[in-house]
Amino acid sequence: MRKKIAHFLDRFPNKLREDLIPLLSDIQAEFGYLPQDAIVEVSNYLSISLNKVYGVATFYDTFWFSPKGKFHIKVCNGTACKIENSTLVISELEKQLKINAGHTDSEGNFSLEIVSCLGGCAQAPVMEINQEFHIRIKIQELKFILAQCNAKAEMI
Ligand code: FES
Repeated sequence: MRKKIAHFLDRFPNKLREDLIPLLSDIQAEFGYLPQDAIVEVSNYLSISLNKVYGVATFYDTFWFSPKGKFHIKVCNGTACKIENSTLVISELEKQLKINAGHTDSEGNFSLEIVSCLGGCAQAPVMEINQEFHIRIKIQELKFILAQCNAKAEMI
């Protein structure tokens, strides 16, 4: 893993504590999540305890600790979407996918992320599945949308 992330580490030659979040962000941008080995390397490189690195990384919802699913679902829970019941959408997705937000299902088909705005406030509630927007979502539609994804997942 050291070799795979060496070019990221090289960007932070001063090894400052404040380099932690930018470094983790760069690694996540490359891998789509934070591989455990990379976290250990970062901990050693910056001389920050592993517990502290995990503590910081888990504080931010943006960091992932496992690969995302074939279908990555982002549900907006910003103010406009909340007013239009995005919280219920999230609960229903968690129920149907049998995962909590921030996680990937055991088959690697779906991952669920809560975000604060997807830029479609006027069409709330909004969610995005692999860059495809779904607007004015109704709870009753979710089963159908997920079934479509499941059908596609078998072909991927
Ligand atoms: S608050 Fe949900 S899209 Fe902006």
